[in-house]
Amino acid sequence: MASSHKIVLLFFFIAFLLFPPTQAQTHITDNCSSNKNFTANSAFQSDRATLLSSLAFNNAIDFYNDTAVGRGDTVYGLFMCRGDVTLTMCHQCVGNATQGLPSACPVSKEAIVWYDDCLVRYSNRSFFSTVAIRPRFVGWNPENVFLPASFMRTVYDIMNKTADEAAKPAVGQKKYASTARGDILAFQTVYCLAQCTPDLSPSDCRWCLSEAIRDLNWCCDGRKGGRVLYPSCNVRYELYRFYLPEAPTPTPTLAIVPLPGSQVIGKGQSTRTVVIVVVSSVGGFLIFVCLVYYLLKSLIKTRRNTVLRQKYFGNETNNLEPLRFSFATIEAATNKFSHENCLGQGGFGRVYKGVLSNGQEVAIKRLSKSSDQGAEEFKNEVLLIAKLQHKNLVALLGFCIEEREKVLIYEYVPNKSLDNFLFGLTLLNPF
Ligand SMILES: *[C@@H]1O[C@H](CO)[C@@H](O)[C@H](O)[C@H]1NC(C)=O
Ligand SMILES: *[C@@H]1O[C@H](CO)[C@@H](O)[C@H](O)[C@H]1NC(C)=O
Ligand SMILES: *[C@@H]1O[C@H](CO)[C@@H](O)[C@H](O)[C@H]1NC(C)=O
Ligand SMILES: *[C@@H]1O[C@H](CO)[C@@H](O)[C@H](O)[C@H]1NC(C)=O
Ligand SMILES: *[C@@H]1O[C@H](CO)[C@@H](O)[C@H](O)[C@H]1NC(C)=O
Ligand SMILES: *[C@@H]1O[C@H](CO)[C@@H](O)[C@H](O)[C@H]1NC(C)=O
Repeated sequence: MASSHKIVLLFFFIAFLLFPPTQAQTHITDNCSSNKNFTANSAFQSDRATLLSSLAFNNAIDFYNDTAVGRGDTVYGLFMCRGDVTLTMCHQCVGNATQGLPSACPVSKEAIVWYDDCLVRYSNRSFFSTVAIRPRFVGWNPENVFLPASFMRTVYDIMNKTADEAAKPAVGQKKYASTARGDILAFQTVYCLAQCTPDLSPSDCRWCLSEAIRDLNWCCDGRKGGRVLYPSCNVRYELYRFYLPEAPTPTPTLAIVPLPGSQVIGKGQSTRTVVIVVVSSVGGFLIFVCLVYYLLKSLIKTRRNTVLRQKYFGNETNNLEPLRFSFATIEAATNKFSHENCLGQGGFGRVYKGVLSNGQEVAIKRLSKSSDQGAEEFKNEVLLIAKLQHKNLVALLGFCIEEREKVLIYEYVPNKSLDNFLFGLTLLNPF
């Protein structure tokens, strides 16, 4: 067993060496309005520049909305960072996003850009506190899971709960939740994330997330990962931890596949995921082998002991079941046959004082393993006392016969002399 542990550790070590943790500002996509254009070098353009630099300047918070009122239309804008990222990462992401937007959407009066860590949005109309589920982007991992139906039930269940959690906080408070839960059937952990912009009310947020989860059903059913991004909220699930606190994350490779009315990004399978899958499969298999080994071992032991009892007690075996103690119980009662518990030595073995788990004091006679001398007497004593209810007998509470151990358990009577009875030449000895 020790060497197999080492092999598993080695696998993890190699995986870590090959794929050290990385951090990258990943641009997902942007959408620029094409029906609402402004003329180049207009007032709107300079107002937009003012707004975007104001957003980029706010590096002490992870959500911010602002308006720029200049000579043209008012420009409204906001940014939101993913709930788990640090303010530094947030600021960096918003910096990148606001820098990139003017060239991505040169003359649009309305635009949005999504990064892994943040989103930035602006428009000539006020959109604060209003739910928007368009434009939308959906992405998925092109790989399918093994048992899609049960897997997706788990995903939707976790997603619903994550969405409930994310939508709880009041208007103005951060609306973010992430959940990791094991999917027992598939031997894997599902990681879920849900987030709304904080300006939404809890009910608007929950509605938005429900729509997003519905889209997950449409885009990503049976996939190993999926995400739906709306301007007001987003959801995502994966089979690896993609949010902080972060285990080493795979660097995603994005394949863009457009669908009508939306855009789609598919997430490729990285080599690291393959390694993680291999490593966890090997680990899982080893655990499985160990489990089977111990299960078989204990089954065989149980079977052997049953055969042994049948050999001794024949037809009476079943009737004697209530009197049977396990060797483990007896070891526990006598503190593993400790010296302190030893009352003395008799013809067929030692006698110990013991305390059962219910508090009852007992005298325990352990027949010596080496001699087969006591075997016949052991058998007769158990059979006889089990049948007799004689007043003069010290009550036999039970017996134990396992492997080479033969043990008799009696009531412990301190004020009666047990000596003759317990240490005598015969095991059965009426007073
Ligand atoms: C807005 O500009 C984009 C390109 O910048 C162009 O494709 C589109 O036709 C324009 N829309 C209108 C309504 O002029
Ligand atoms: C931010 O949005 C809220 C409504 O959600 C609005 O009352 C507030 O004026 C906005 N802030 C700025 C600076 O525009
Ligand atoms: C993003 O931000 C980082 C750090 O601020 C900078 O090094 C990088 O050049 C930026 N990338 C873009 C595309 O603006
Ligand atoms: C935004 O701009 C479009 C196109 O220029 C215009 O039709 C619309 O009325 C503007 N919206 C607001 C609220 O000013
Ligand atoms: C932007 O979003 C609109 C509305 O969902 C969609 O019709 C359009 O195709 C998108 N455009 C781009 C360039 O993604
Ligand atoms: C999740 O919630 C939706 C309604 O918002 C419901 O239709 C669906 O059955 C729920 N799924 C699970 C697995 O709880």
